[in-house]
Amino acid sequence: MKIAVLGYGTVGRGVVKIIDEQVADVEVSRILELPDRISESRMTSSYVDIVNDSQVEVVVECMGGLEPAHTYILAALNAGKHVVTSNKAVVAEYFAEFVEAANAHGVGLLIEASVGGGIPWIASIIKARRIDAISSFSGIMNGTTNYIVYKMLKDGSDFSEVLSKAQEMGYAERDPSADIDGIDVRNKTVITASVAFDVACTKELPVTGIRTLSKHDLALFGSHERTVKLLGRGVQRDGRYAVAVEPVAVSTSSLEANVPSNFNLVTLDADTVGELKFYGQGAGSLPTGNAIVQDVLDCTAGIRPRYDFSRGLEYDPGLLRSDYVFRTEADVEGSRLFEPGAVLVSDITSERARGLLDEALRTDPTTFMAAIVKES
Ligand SMILES: NC(=O)c1ccc[n+]([C@@H]2O[C@H](COP(=O)([O-])OP(=O)(O)OC[C@H]3O[C@@H](n4cnc5c(N)ncnc54)[C@H](OP(=O)(O)O)[C@@H]3O)[C@@H](O)[C@H]2O)c1
Repeated sequence: MKIAVLGYGTVGRGVVKIIDEQVADVEVSRILELPDRISESRMTSSYVDIVNDSQVEVVVECMGGLEPAHTYILAALNAGKHVVTSNKAVVAEYFAEFVEAANAHGVGLLIEASVGGGIPWIASIIKARRIDAISSFSGIMNGTTNYIVYKMLKDGSDFSEVLSKAQEMGYAERDPSADIDGIDVRNKTVITASVAFDVACTKELPVTGIRTLSKHDLALFGSHERTVKLLGRGVQRDGRYAVAVEPVAVSTSSLEANVPSNFNLVTLDADTVGELKFYGQGAGSLPTGNAIVQDVLDCTAGIRPRYDFSRGLEYDPGLLRSDYVFRTEADVEGSRLFEPGAVLVSDITSERARGLLDEALRTDPTTFMAAIVKES
């Protein structure tokens, strides 16, 4: 089977390396590269050449961003080619449109690498869903923020210090907003909920990152035997669902609290199988390339994931309720003292908590908020 790879960066190079060196049945016959970087005969800077090449059966998109990725993916699906992508931003934004085009042309849309890097997360959800309704999922889905909290705890450093070091080492982007403000986890949560709950998941979910986390916050939660993790969460019940991205103060004895460095840990809960946890590298050239090559091999085996967004599940933020701690100098409505400098608001929705945080940030821009989730 011949495939084309769009974008020859971190992920694209991993895909080409794994296929060239380890997969005999698949050939990377074309690579889309920018004109000034063409360095081998497979490379072209013309996407038209690729989409019109009848020998190319699978287009692997790993350029990132919304455009031209969105246009190129649609063009490939409409030309009857399977599409494999690691691009969570474009899938979160256009999932339903891509599914419609893939179904109309009888081709596959495979997105394993878009969530959890090398972890077989999407495939496991699809497999679990064959038998069970998935009642909830949650997870550490962003390696950069996990690394930041891990180093803050390990070295006693403050947020900005660890972030600068992570940027120097290439673990964090020069513009870290997508990671530290929870946008990357938002995209992964939208994709996970769409697959797990069979719904074109809303993009209007409450999203809170860890930008204002300080070492004093970690000490405060530590004195309550908790630590902070940025989690994407989703729950469905009685034809309704809710999703959120927010810092959660998890028990120090939980598996989540002990996830080191830039690793990911994602969990699903389903009726008969119960709780399942998946741990591994959520990013990196070869782990992510591996997930893409797995998808390509599924294409060669005739496997086409089916997504069905027709159930009409209703979005109900009331399903996700927790207690929230706010470390702030602002007044927080409905709160009581938690510790000096921090207050607690009991049993509110993620959406209400995000609203209270926005109000507090207007008075105290350093305010930090975390949910306290009751553990089973
Ligand atoms: N890195 C990871 O570990 C990882 C893990 C999971 C998912 N992902 C996702 O995978 C995608 C790719 O990530 P990455 O880390 O590989 O990014 P990257 O290193 O920046 O690679 C993307 C490459 O595509 C090139 N490109 C952009 N537009 C192009 C165009 N129109 N024609 C040809 N080439 C083009 C870029 O060139 P310029 O840099 O010159 O623009 C760059 O070389 C993203 O959506 C990312 O979110 C990445």
